[in-house]
Amino acid sequence: MDSIVIQGGNRLNGTIPVSGAKNSALKLMAASILTDQPLLLTNMPRLADTKFLGRLLKALGVEVTERDGADGQETLFHGATISSTFAPYDLVRQMRASFNVLGPLLARTGEAKVSLPGGCTIGARPVDLHLQALTALGAEIELDEGYVTARAPKGLQGAEIAFPIVSVGATEHALLAAVMANGTTVLRNAAREPEIGDLARCLTAMGARVDGIDSDVLTITGVSSLGGATWSVIPDRIEMGSYAVAAAMAGGEVRLTKARADLMQALSAKMVEAGVEITPTDDGVIVKRDPAQRLKAVDLTTEVYPGFATDLQAQFMALMTTADGQSTIQENIFENRFMHAPELARLGADIAVHAGSAVVTGVPTLRGAPVMATDLRASVSLVIAGLVAEGETTVGRVYHLDRGFEKLEDKLTACGADIRRVKGDEHDH
Ligand code: UD1
Repeated sequence: MDSIVIQGGNRLNGTIPVSGAKNSALKLMAASILTDQPLLLTNMPRLADTKFLGRLLKALGVEVTERDGADGQETLFHGATISSTFAPYDLVRQMRASFNVLGPLLARTGEAKVSLPGGCTIGARPVDLHLQALTALGAEIELDEGYVTARAPKGLQGAEIAFPIVSVGATEHALLAAVMANGTTVLRNAAREPEIGDLARCLTAMGARVDGIDSDVLTITGVSSLGGATWSVIPDRIEMGSYAVAAAMAGGEVRLTKARADLMQALSAKMVEAGVEITPTDDGVIVKRDPAQRLKAVDLTTEVYPGFATDLQAQFMALMTTADGQSTIQENIFENRFMHAPELARLGADIAVHAGSAVVTGVPTLRGAPVMATDLRASVSLVIAGLVAEGETTVGRVYHLDRGFEKLEDKLTACGADIRRVKGDEHDH
């Protein structure tokens, strides 16, 4: 397994281009199952997670062609025929979002057998809401030996679905299935994350009829077939936020480009409160922080969009480890999402976790140490802390990082960080 080795203490100065959003790309890829026409996704991130899903789509009969286009990386998906409706454990377990092929397979072919998902170990993360939504749409569902078998021999039927809690994945899954159902579907208490808007707009470009995009009520009028489209993946607000926090942590001035300032407003507000300068630009933001001045501790609570993203909680906690004062961080979306806290403590951070909240008492300095990435977003928080920790920090289990951050070392090195990847062969699953 590779590790990342960082010598702390360098400022960050320069430009970082933000990639297309992983969480959007994965759902857009699943949409390719819905049509026998080509779906061209531009601004595609090249990540372990998109590779996993690409492998699964190929196994289902979708042709997947990665190439360099006029606007950078793009991938062409063409499911002229779906040759298999079986998504085996081996191809689903590595990443939870693979489960989202179930709805599109059902919509296109009337049947599917998909393994229950794996993914990050952040809490229980059930799929009950996904299955309830598909059942409401008329699917007959059986669970057996870790697999979901679903059938809709007469096609899916439009339905009224009110989600008991807000779920990104279940909203997207219901949307992906409902666009080709007979009749109208109304999704209430839908999630409003920008990636859902991106999916809904791409589906619309493919011929779907979706009203209420970006709101918490989506009304979908089913169509009998969808066509192809060319769609540019929305910029990754989590990657953008992670580099914004990295710049604030290390000090200096970093320009984030190919991004959208409006997608990270909750984070920007907290960073400004802590003493970071954030200036929106036409295609992103400039993040500036005077390293001579210590940041102020601020409290935060994770919430559904447009609230503070749970996917930026670990990074912000890293930032607070050296702030002046005490910061209380409340995690409301996932249980068990403080696994980075003991790792940050190895670098000298003072963090007390009680159930769903963590109290971070700022310390003047962190010291480098070997640490372990525990999940995707936690792993980048350790890199961020390593940027200021005195001496050397080695982050192990980097495969978590590779799932969601494209060319992380290159992007940080370009801004002056001393960070490199060390190839390793230890087997630490
Ligand atoms: C997506 C994102 C993830 C982000 C999360 C919240 C992708 C690939 N992943 O994950 O990065 O952290 O949104 O913004 O887009 N829940 C249930 N039953 C279900 C589904 C979810 O109880 O059937 C619960 C979860 O355990 C969690 C909460 O609902 O406590 C929210 O999860 P959800 O919004 O579904 O997250 P994901 O779609 O898995």
